[in-house]
This record gives sequence, structure tokens and C-alpha cells, in this order.
Amino acid sequence: MRYMTGNEIRNAFKDFFESKNHMILKSFSLVPDNDPTLLLIGAGMAPMKKYFTGEVEPISRRIATSQKCIRTGDIENVGRTARHHTFFEMPGNFSFGDYFKDEAIAWAWEFLTDVMDLDKNKLYVTVHPRDAEAYDIWKKYIAEDRIFKLEDNFWEIGDGPCGPDTEIFYDLGADRSCGKPTCGVGCDCDRYLEVWNLVFTQFNKVGDEYVPLKNKNVDTGIGLERLASVIQQKESNFETDLLYPIIEKIIDISEADYNDPKQKTAVKVIADHIRAVVLMISDGVEPSNKDRGYVLRRIIRRSVRFGHVLGIERTFLSNLVDVVIDIYRQPYPELMDRKDSIKSVIEKEEKQFRANLKAGMKLLNGIIDESDGVIAGMSVFKLYDTYGFPPELTEEIAQERNPEIDRPGFNECMRQQKERARNARIAP
Ligand code: GLY
Repeated sequence: MRYMTGNEIRNAFKDFFESKNHMILKSFSLVPDNDPTLLLIGAGMAPMKKYFTGEVEPISRRIATSQKCIRTGDIENVGRTARHHTFFEMPGNFSFGDYFKDEAIAWAWEFLTDVMDLDKNKLYVTVHPRDAEAYDIWKKYIAEDRIFKLEDNFWEIGDGPCGPDTEIFYDLGADRSCGKPTCGVGCDCDRYLEVWNLVFTQFNKVGDEYVPLKNKNVDTGIGLERLASVIQQKESNFETDLLYPIIEKIIDISEADYNDPKQKTAVKVIADHIRAVVLMISDGVEPSNKDRGYVLRRIIRRSVRFGHVLGIERTFLSNLVDVVIDIYRQPYPELMDRKDSIKSVIEKEEKQFRANLKAGMKLLNGIIDESDGVIAGMSVFKLYDTYGFPPELTEEIAQERNPEIDRPGFNECMRQQKERARNARIAP
């Protein structure tokens, strides 16, 4: 296995699928185009949903991209595991009613074992228990004792195209296992790393219904950072060249000790979040109190708070922008033109939050000290309304010392505030 940079892996993926007659497209924006069901693009297939459903004729029946993605559903895991991210990149190949399982599996295997030169003896796959076709195809490439049937091999993300999938795992070794007797392929721990998911998109999910699609399609997704961690033989995604230069810069600014677990987590959270922040702002998202603007605000404020954990007392996030752009200027050259405006959006938001951070933290720590295990909705609301603490942030800080927050109570305070604002508008 030859060392390759993240850029080299992305380019090798594109070259490979170009050689298989795919049209290679640039990543679509993180902001969905005319799709009210999504706040942000969270998978390579998401910008092409209408090609799968047949609503729009695809510009080619074979497309490959390396798509920018944001997922925040498990943001609290970011920095605490080797592989969770808010921003990540997903190289993927797509067939819209063209090739199907045979080619999708053959090419995934060829790319991983020939082009990436991964050790075949470390690869495992899973298939849906009722997908005998995928199982039989895999048998041509890999011994049967390396193929596992898992019921949850079905991929969907909200409403839209979905279907049974087959996943490819790389064994990072017994020393990465959680040690449970049940640990095996599909275990949530760090041993078996899912590097590629091949979805056989045969349904369109509408509410609770799975409507069969006219065409049989393919939608695949690699985790670029994960594959880079394997190729570069790093302990986690964070030590790859797609993240480590940011980590070095944060350590430089904060003098954090990367060997101290708490500080290491804080450094990793900030490194992850600043990539998301830079790429979201570059795609036109601005911090606000709603929708995708709120997602961005929450990520920025969470980064500032982890900066506080590291003892950083001044604005610092915009100082990380150059290093993020250095990593991503090759695939996303537009970042260079947007550098100054990205920095100024970040700086403004950070200053605004910092003005209240210390006082908010003091208040919150006092509330936690006195709490009986639950933080009242009214307190969560005060932290949000007066100090700019997103409730998710309050919840996360509280949970570090155990208390829960009263979410319904907070929601009620929010509802009352909106009602007051509405009444004020319609008052004579
Ligand atoms: N659409 C395939 C994946 O996100 O894994």
C-alpha cells in the first residue's frame, strides 16, 4: 500500500470512474437546490435525487462525484471517536438505470484492491439477508466466511431514493476492538471500519411507503477521510492530511497538550468544525437562528466553547481559515476568492458569542452546581435568549457533569417568546 494524500485518493477515484465511462462532476453545493426536504446535503446522492426518481432526465447514466457533505445528527460523537465528522467528503459512483450490482461490486473491489492496493485479507463485506444476488456476486471476489448478512443493510436518509446495500469494511486489527465477545464485522467500535457503502437504489421512500422505482440504480459512497486513514496508516481520520494541519495550527494557538484526553477531544472538535464552517460559508450559508443558518451558528458556537475548554481567551477561529483553504484549494478553488468574506463572517459570529460566553458559562456552572439533576426549561431559555447558548450546547455542557435539561420546558418558553413577539407586531 503506497502512501497517498487525500487529494491523490480523490483524484484516483475520479480517474478510475472516468476510465469506466462515468461523467465526472464537481461536488454540488452543500446547500440543496430546490429540495425543501433537506437543510444541507448529507450524502453524495442527495443532489441527484431527481435522477433516481426519474423526475429529471440525468445528464449521463453514469456519474461520479466527490461530494461535500454535512451531518450533525451525531455531533456529540465528533472528537470522541476516530471517525465521526460534521463535514466529510463522499466520493461516489452512480448509475441511473444503467449498470447494477455486478459492475458496482466488481469496480469497488478493483478500486480498493488494485488502485488503492488494500490488503485483501483485511477486507470484509456485509449484505442484506435477502439480497442473494449481491451475496453470489461477492463470492467471486472474497471467501464466504468474510461475507456477513446483516438485517440493517438497507440505506435511506429521510424521504427519497433508498434500497438494500452492501458495505465494505477494513479490519484495523484486534488491538482496536472493543473486546466484547460480540465484537465482529458491523460492531460499532473502531476495529472494523466501513470504508464504502454500495446502495442498490430500488425504492423511493415517501412517508412510510417504499414505492418501487422504475429503474434499478446504484448509489455508492466512500468516506474519504476514513479511506485516507487506512492508506496513510493513521490512528484516526484526525491524523490524516485532511485534518492534521488544522490540529497543528490549533495546538500552536492554544498550546494544548494533544496527549491529554480532554484537550485532545477539544482540539479534534474544533478541527472538525472549522472545516464545516468554512465550507458552509463558502457555499453561502450565514449564521442565523433558523434552518441551515442555525446549524452553522451552533457549530461555530460549539467550536468557541471548546476553545474556551483549551483556555483560548481571544477570537481565534478565523485564524484557522487559511490552513483549511490550503487543504481544500485544489478541489474547491472558489475558496480562494471567498477567503476574506469567510473570515469576516466567522469573526463577527465569534465576537458576538464571546461577549457573553464567560458570563453564560458562569451562570450555567452555578445552575449545574445547584441542580437536582434537571436544568429548568426557563434557565435553558435564559442561556439561549440572553447569552446565545444554543440549547444543544447547554445540554452537552450539563451532561458532562450529568444533569439533563428540561427540553419541553425550554420549548414552551420559546413558544411563549414567539407569541409575545407576534402580539407585539399586531398590537395597534
Ligand atoms: N448514499 C450512500 C451513503 O451515504 O452511504
